[in-house]
Amino acid sequence: MPLFETIVLATDFSETSVRAQDYVRRLRQAGCKKVVALFVLDTIETGVVISEPAGIIYDEGRYEGDLNARIIRHAREKMQELTAMLEEVGLEVEPVIISGVPAKEIVKIADARNASLIVVGSHGRSNLASALLGSVSDKVIRTAKQPVLVVRREE
Ligand SMILES: Nc1ncnc2c1ncn2[C@@H]1O[C@H](COP(=O)(O)OP(=O)(O)OP(=O)(O)O)[C@@H](O)[C@H]1O
Ligand SMILES: [Mg+2]
Repeated sequence: MPLFETIVLATDFSETSVRAQDYVRRLRQAGCKKVVALFVLDTIETGVVISEPAGIIYDEGRYEGDLNARIIRHAREKMQELTAMLEEVGLEVEPVIISGVPAKEIVKIADARNASLIVVGSHGRSNLASALLGSVSDKVIRTAKQPVLVVRREE
């Protein structure tokens, strides 16, 4: 069995995330077969209904009109492009959009899917110049059982 048969690619669709996607595409040659592409709607960042249980978002209907509906719609579109890009090289892709705390959900999905590698960007949307890592990549590295491939932002 190839070492990295199933991997989780966590993406916030930021510039650095897109660099990470490119690496994942190339992991096909290293024996990777399946990619779980994951976007987490950050329920704290967007100030939604914190009491709402985390889970799969089936449709943006219940978020109608608010910022979250727009984020989910955008994520769907980007996820479709990402899926097509990875399928093109023969990878099987499972796109997942869920709500919750990003780092927690990333680690949880990696376990649930029996992934042997997690791929993240060093930074995301905030992309703070002085930060060595973003808070999501930092927490994933600290808490995941699997090795984490961190793709750096452009210099
Ligand atoms: N909502 C999310 N869903 C899935 N993956 C995410 C999410 N947010 C971040 N990531 C992953 O973590 C990587 C680093 O992003 P992170 O959010 O840690 O950095 P940042 O946005 O620059 O800083 P911060 O969010 O701490 O202000 C991203 O490239 C992506 O791989
Ligand atoms: Mg971020």
